[in-house]
Amino acid sequence: MKRHLERINRTGLALLTSSVLFSLPGCYDKDQYDETKLKLDTKDVSIMKKGEKQFLKHCGSCHSFQGTGGTSGPSLDLLGMRMDGTMIRESIIEPNREIKDGYKGNIMPENFGMILSEEEMDSLVYYLTNS
Ligand code: HEC
Repeated sequence: MKRHLERINRTGLALLTSSVLFSLPGCYDKDQYDETKLKLDTKDVSIMKKGEKQFLKHCGSCHSFQGTGGTSGPSLDLLGMRMDGTMIRESIIEPNREIKDGYKGNIMPENFGMILSEEEMDSLVYYLTNS
């Protein structure tokens, strides 16, 4: 009888152990998910920083964005609500194709397509549409 109980206990222990082990992958997945999300956020932030750097270097003297910059060009706040990435790219590369109402043409430099690398342009457009 005593031996029988011992066997039950051992089975109980085995069940307990396996249920702990069984529940572990669940926890692990959750941690993994959070970690992936964290990595994505970090990546986003680094693209944003690169884009901001490009803006301050090339655009901020004429355009304001989020409270900083000049006024000889239109504010670029909420640009992403009016234009998609392709349109923004076009107006950076060919600024005189369409002139914004109330502003003069031939003021914005036409060489950004030449001086910005692909990565710099991408990060700039990303920054302007995701801030
Ligand atoms: C020397 C001043 C100057 C600089 C530097 C400049 N811009 Fe401009 N930009 C203007 C002016 C003026 C306009 C309005 C006339 C026009 O549409 O071309 C304009 C228009 C634009 C427009 C169209 C805005 C709209 O609402 O239609 C975008 C987008 C733009 N600029 C982005 C940029 C970006 C991004 C940079 C930096 C890479 C930049 N500009 C650098 C002067 C400048």
